[in-house]
Amino acid sequence: MEIILRFSVSVIFLCFGLVNSQNYSVLDFDATGDGQTDDSNAFVKTWNAACGGGGDISILLIPAGRTFLIQPIVFNGPCRSSNTKVQLEGVIIAPSNKEAWSNPNSRMWIKFSAVLGLVIVGSGTINGRGSSFWEQNLKASQRPTSLHISKCDNLSISGITSVDSPKNHISIAACTNVAISNVRLFAPEDSPNTDGIDISRSTNVNIFDSTIQTGDDCIAINTGNTNINITRINCGPGHGISVGSLGVNGGNAAVSDVQVTQCTFNQTMNGARIKTWPGGQGYARNISFENITLINAKNPIIIDQQYIDKGRVYSAEKSAVAISNIKFIDFLGTTSKKNAIKIDCSATTRCKDVLMNGINITMADGKQPRVDCKNVDGKSEDTILTHDCFENI
Ligand SMILES: *[C@@H]1O[C@H](CO)[C@@H](O)[C@H](O)[C@H]1NC(C)=O
Ligand SMILES: *[C@@H]1O[C@H](CO)[C@@H](O)[C@H](O)[C@H]1NC(C)=O
Ligand SMILES: *[C@@H]1O[C@H](CO)[C@@H](O)[C@H](O)[C@H]1NC(C)=O
Ligand SMILES: *[C@@H]1O[C@H](CO)[C@@H](O)[C@H](O)[C@H]1NC(C)=O
Ligand SMILES: *[C@@H]1O[C@H](CO)[C@@H](O)[C@H](O)[C@H]1NC(C)=O
Ligand SMILES: *[C@@H]1O[C@H](CO)[C@@H](O)[C@H](O)[C@H]1NC(C)=O
Ligand SMILES: *[C@@H]1O[C@H](CO)[C@@H](O)[C@H](O)[C@H]1NC(C)=O
Repeated sequence: MEIILRFSVSVIFLCFGLVNSQNYSVLDFDATGDGQTDDSNAFVKTWNAACGGGGDISILLIPAGRTFLIQPIVFNGPCRSSNTKVQLEGVIIAPSNKEAWSNPNSRMWIKFSAVLGLVIVGSGTINGRGSSFWEQNLKASQRPTSLHISKCDNLSISGITSVDSPKNHISIAACTNVAISNVRLFAPEDSPNTDGIDISRSTNVNIFDSTIQTGDDCIAINTGNTNINITRINCGPGHGISVGSLGVNGGNAAVSDVQVTQCTFNQTMNGARIKTWPGGQGYARNISFENITLINAKNPIIIDQQYIDKGRVYSAEKSAVAISNIKFIDFLGTTSKKNAIKIDCSATTRCKDVLMNGINITMADGKQPRVDCKNVDGKSEDTILTHDCFENI
């Protein structure tokens, strides 16, 4: 009888394409969710059960209506279930200040590593309560990232909100096939190094339909990335969407096939930016920014091939990261700065094949901003603004 029953259940699953999913609520593993008690152990126990459970989908449930205090925590894979889902409906908070962290030197607060097919979804919030880190004038490396995800192929993150990360809200490292959508990332405009999403060493990354209001880059695309697609992002305040910085300390950079479309930069410090260090090697190529709306963005278009962060001194450059096949197409809106467009490339390694079409940027008073171009080859079909940029035409 039991065999027949099991058989028919399997048949039903097969016929209707149903999957065998199992819930693991943190409340069933003794989490209190009172916002005071350290629930880290309960989360670890829940993870071990969910990740160790077989089946098609294991769901780690963080229920709505509760606030869970969590110390720096690592969720490691691989898991036995073929897909692991973290359903975040409640709120997760970090310790109230740096001194209350179990390890105040942690580089990350919540980390996932080597979990294939990880799905993080829900209408919940993670709050890194970063203000004590911001106030202490620390180096960026001494502030933790809120959500760090590495080596997780087939990753999906959607719906969640992150506020007040001590450093980056989300870091993606060494992942293939990533979709991030409908996330909301918030930190004050003056909070240091609070990038929205940092991507490194990753392939096939889609980021779309999200709102990022933060103190540093809305999205930063670092070295080792290829095939990055960013669509319909509302950015601002923040420092725009940035490729780089690449090639620091003579490093070898590789970034290619990046497409940014239908994004809005609303009162941002920068808009579309590529920045590389003098002395670097490698390349940044096939990068396009298209259909961009600007609302008082300060530096809407920047290529800085001679980027030097404050406090560093560089001797005469011998090389630079090669920048080629770059498109800025259909930028419409306003800038708050006279020197709105700056393409500053190196004499040794000129920027090549740069296209600027449909660039229509005005200042609040209706005047035209200035365009500065140095050592750049390319073209523009525009009759206003950018037509003088290229020396070779
Ligand atoms: C898991 O929990 C969610 C939310 O409470 C519920 O909708 C779903 O039916 C549950 N699934 C299983 C397999 O228990
Ligand atoms: C990732 O997804 C692709 C396409 O759906 C699939 O072919 C592949 O097996 C998946 N890889 C892993 C590690 O789950
Ligand atoms: C980029 O992502 C958007 C939104 O998901 C999608 O519509 C579009 O087809 C993607 N483009 C490429 C080149 O993958
Ligand atoms: C440039 O990148 C896009 C994806 O953004 C890709 O579809 C296209 O094939 C690439 N072109 C070249 C010349 O590599
Ligand atoms: C731009 O930002 C301002 C200030 O945050 C906000 O009031 C306004 O609604 C935003 N505009 C758009 C189109 O999002
Ligand atoms: C840019 O916008 C135009 C007009 O809405 C549309 O036809 C085109 O496909 C868009 N391009 C991209 C790359 O999204
Ligand atoms: C630039 O945009 C303004 C405002 O939308 C418009 O009135 C003007 O015609 C545009 N200029 C060009 C050259 O497209």
